[in-house]
Amino acid sequence: MGVQSEIRVFSGPAELFQSAAVEFVSLAHMAVSEHGRFTVALSGGSTPKGLYSVLASGTISDIPWNSMYFFWGDERHVPPNHPDSNYRMVFESLLSKVPVPSQNIFRIHAETPDAELAARSYEQDLRKFFSLKAGEFPRFDLILLGLGPEGHTASLFPDSPALLDSRHLVVANWIEKLKTERITLTLPVLKSARFVMFLVSGEGKAEIVREIFENPKADLPARLVKPESGRLLWMLDRAAAGKLA
Ligand code: 6PG
Repeated sequence: MGVQSEIRVFSGPAELFQSAAVEFVSLAHMAVSEHGRFTVALSGGSTPKGLYSVLASGTISDIPWNSMYFFWGDERHVPPNHPDSNYRMVFESLLSKVPVPSQNIFRIHAETPDAELAARSYEQDLRKFFSLKAGEFPRFDLILLGLGPEGHTASLFPDSPALLDSRHLVVANWIEKLKTERITLTLPVLKSARFVMFLVSGEGKAEIVREIFENPKADLPARLVKPESGRLLWMLDRAAAGKLA
């Protein structure tokens, strides 16, 4: 089965995040009924806060928290209490407000001074959790992704070394534009997911969204995320979709 991709455009952020939350919970129920658990790699940045808030709000009932396992698609090279930490953002907007058992939360230990060691350690966590053999990639039930203004996703930035890595699950990635290192899942892991959901909001993303969908020559990391045997869903609000033909 190849990639099945779909775009859904919503009137504004509130409808986008509500619909994304409903989709998130529906995927969780499907995964739990199919194989007893739901594994998700969360995205950082600011956009997904809206989704995490809806999930934490209690407006959607009967979420199978006990069977849900939380990972991160990427992390900044900072301690978990740093304002830039994706873990901190998810903890504050979601995990501190819902009854997920702490043993179901697998954060990237980005406080490690050597980012490559943090990446190696997270890779071991994934290999153990998913009981992977050498050469195997984890198959997340859902990978949630955002879109950067220049087309990056997770911490796979254009022309960054990590984009070329097809061996590792997790790598440290030097981001020249930000003059900093990030820790990120690699493209093969993103492509192994059962379901990839891009969540994009705001007119600031309209140009890059147009590039992604209407410029086949655009060499943009987010365009490369095509699940090999899974579903790809782009969820946009009207502002982010504003420049699409
Ligand atoms: C991160 C994210 C990153 C993010 C995009 C969009 O660590 O920042 O993983 O890939 O999704 O940069 O960020 P915004 O949602 O803040 O626009």
